[in-house]
Amino acid sequence: TYVEGILIVNKKYSVPKDYGNGIDKEANNQLKLLQNDAKKKGYNISFVSGYRTYSYQNTLYKNYIKKYGQKIADNLAAKPGHSEHQTGLAFDVGNVGNKYKVTKAGTWLSENAHLYGFIIRYPKGKEKITGYQYEPWHIRYLGKELATEIVKENLTYEEYIAKK
Ligand code: DAL
Ligand code: ZN
Repeated sequence: TYVEGILIVNKKYSVPKDYGNGIDKEANNQLKLLQNDAKKKGYNISFVSGYRTYSYQNTLYKNYIKKYGQKIADNLAAKPGHSEHQTGLAFDVGNVGNKYKVTKAGTWLSENAHLYGFIIRYPKGKEKITGYQYEPWHIRYLGKELATEIVKENLTYEEYIAKK
């Protein structure tokens, strides 16, 4: 589903099983810029996860269910077809852990990601809206203009789209 030409993938909207073929080129270039600028400040924002296929997400999701049960799993991982990672527009970076925001690198990321076209997709305090736990490491590429608008208005992507 596209809203104003931009893809939305969440608990409600999915992509087909065979959708996607790797990391989006523009998003990847912007991630590289972000990482380089972070490095200049002394922060290491390493790549952890990017494009994931439907079947890989399926494995991941099933493993979470085995480990934590359905309810918690649904708070941590998207069902196959419902992960932004399948779009090639989302990345997990840095330390994948809830303390990431309070590290200097994580704070820098939260304050600067939009300048490169990214948003922190699952913010703290918006868990009920996004449907996922706070993920300070998961960034979604939306382009500079849209990312900046969303960040300035302190919205999630869901809230932004609901206003349209
Ligand atoms: N952790 C995010 C929600 C995903 O699995 O896509
Ligand atoms: Zn992620």
